[in-house]
Amino acid sequence: MRLNGKTAHVTGAGAGIGRAIALRFAREGARVLVTDVDGDAAGRTAEAIRAAGGIAMEHTADVRDVNAINTALDAAEAAYGGLDIQVSNAATKARQPFLDMTPAFWRDVLEINLTGVFLVGQAAARRMVKHGRGGRIINVASNSGIFGGRGRAAYGASKAGVINLTQTMAIELAEHGILVNAVGPGPTQVDDPPQPLMPSVAARMPLKRFGQPEEIAAAALFLASDDCSFVTGQVLMADGGFTTAGIMEG
Ligand SMILES: NC(=O)c1ccc[n+]([C@@H]2O[C@H](COP(=O)([O-])OP(=O)(O)OC[C@H]3O[C@@H](n4cnc5c(N)ncnc54)[C@H](O)[C@@H]3O)[C@@H](O)[C@H]2O)c1
Repeated sequence: MRLNGKTAHVTGAGAGIGRAIALRFAREGARVLVTDVDGDAAGRTAEAIRAAGGIAMEHTADVRDVNAINTALDAAEAAYGGLDIQVSNAATKARQPFLDMTPAFWRDVLEINLTGVFLVGQAAARRMVKHGRGGRIINVASNSGIFGGRGRAAYGASKAGVINLTQTMAIELAEHGILVNAVGPGPTQVDDPPQPLMPSVAARMPLKRFGQPEEIAAAALFLASDDCSFVTGQVLMADGGFTTAGIMEG
């Protein structure tokens, strides 16, 4: 029960990694605000938490809509008390070849993946500052924010932006006792049915397999827990070694 008595908000928690983070944080004793642009999916995650004996509420909220996010945060604070942990996970993973990429596509990806992390992070941080008991903000980055990837001009740029935003938030929020870090998933198995890992990816990855959403949640849990008391502005890559691998043979 490493998050006993804490209130946590997870965006994009209706599916995949966000859902796994919400379920794990609840198992560790947190009261969880589950938000997602897909309200039914958010409801399923919150219901799964409640069915397992945990505490959760769901709200439909697009991370681009700060009013909807604040409405959800108001409800959680009224029910659970002040916010302690913000996980900004929601993103689109849409890809398009660079030469064909439209300005509308580019803006859409940046608006959800980067501006969304800014808007939600600012709304959460303002509440944490007001309550005066510090907090944790965990932004979900990606291996694509570290190196280039085909079709990922907008996605990769958004995730590189998330990493830099994490560093600046860490600097500016430190005086308020708020630690800001990112977790950087590598290829993680969220598809149903599961897809095989591309051989070209496996060839560059020491662990040579997909990560499971629960393994990303475990890394996020460390960043949210009291064990993480002297770490801020970092990216914890949970990626099977993908971003650190160089020469893999010989
Ligand atoms: N799965 C991977 O291989 C992988 C790898 C690296 C990074 N990531 C990152 O992990 C995070 C979660 O990815 P995932 O694989 O679980 O994705 P997913 O597509 O399975 O789930 C994303 C969730 O976010 C929600 N969402 C999308 N747009 C939203 C918006 N505008 N506002 C609110 N909610 C929104 C979706 O409805 C969905 O429930 C993302 O930030 C993604 O970039 C994933």
